[in-house]
Amino acid sequence: MKPYALVFGANSAIAQALMPHLLSEYQVLAVSRQAPAQLPAGVQHFTCDYSEAALAELAEQIKENGGPVTALFCAVGVLHGTAKGEHRYPEKKLAELNSAQLTEYFAVNSIVPALIMKYFIPLMPRSEPSKAVMLSAKIAGISDNRLGGWYGYRASKAALNMLVKTASVELARSHRKLSLIALHPGTTDTPLSKPFTSSLGPDKLFSPELTAERLWSVIQALTPEDTGRFVHWDGSDLPW
Ligand SMILES: NC(=O)c1ccc[n+]([C@@H]2O[C@H](COP(=O)([O-])OP(=O)(O)OC[C@H]3O[C@@H](n4cnc5c(N)ncnc54)[C@H](OP(=O)(O)O)[C@@H]3O)[C@@H](O)[C@H]2O)c1
Repeated sequence: MKPYALVFGANSAIAQALMPHLLSEYQVLAVSRQAPAQLPAGVQHFTCDYSEAALAELAEQIKENGGPVTALFCAVGVLHGTAKGEHRYPEKKLAELNSAQLTEYFAVNSIVPALIMKYFIPLMPRSEPSKAVMLSAKIAGISDNRLGGWYGYRASKAALNMLVKTASVELARSHRKLSLIALHPGTTDTPLSKPFTSSLGPDKLFSPELTAERLWSVIQALTPEDTGRFVHWDGSDLPW
């Protein structure tokens, strides 16, 4: 029987394009706040609002299901969206920062993935190879920030990178064969990037299907030596 792969953010266009690849090696358990309109045949879906209580309960449920979980893919992330009737865009200047929007960025982009690591990595085997991939973004690289802007998104993804790195140090002791990485998917044509991509040519904006092929190549090649890396979709290292 194939081992399980958990996919968080099952409505993500990138996650949806990746699932057919995952199905070639895993039984896929997909998690999202609302069930996607369509899922590939064979994918089992769980609804979860990503609150800590709901994630803890889901982890118990999946544990009771039995069977090894050897892959985890987290696509949860927010860049723009509607909250309390207002459409929020990434902040261009300090003057545009506000507490509610910053809180949402950190809640969705840093804290939800951290809790996913907390509750679901313990379901992974301690001495068998396993892979956990958290989607981050190249613009989280602090040393590479020359353009400025997008304060909350950059900062919350940089926080995610630090959470992944710190967890990888701890887990290298308990889960010696785990590869836990932060992965940049490349600029991909999805609802998340839509408002910001009108000036990008086809060489700079990739389809979810092409991105998924590239990410699947990176995932397949992962070894425990990769744990703690910040990885570009082409498999190279990104600067922190
Ligand atoms: N597209 C790009 O160009 C690009 C570039 C760099 C990094 N990324 C990263 O790649 C990941 C996937 O992005 P995508 O492009 O596939 O985006 P997407 O289609 O918009 O999917 C975003 C995902 O994040 C979850 N999400 C969005 N807002 C949320 C909120 N307020 N609370 C909780 N969950 C929320 C959704 O979860 P549900 O499934 O539960 O609805 C959805 O699965 C994200 O982490 C993003 O930051 C994307």
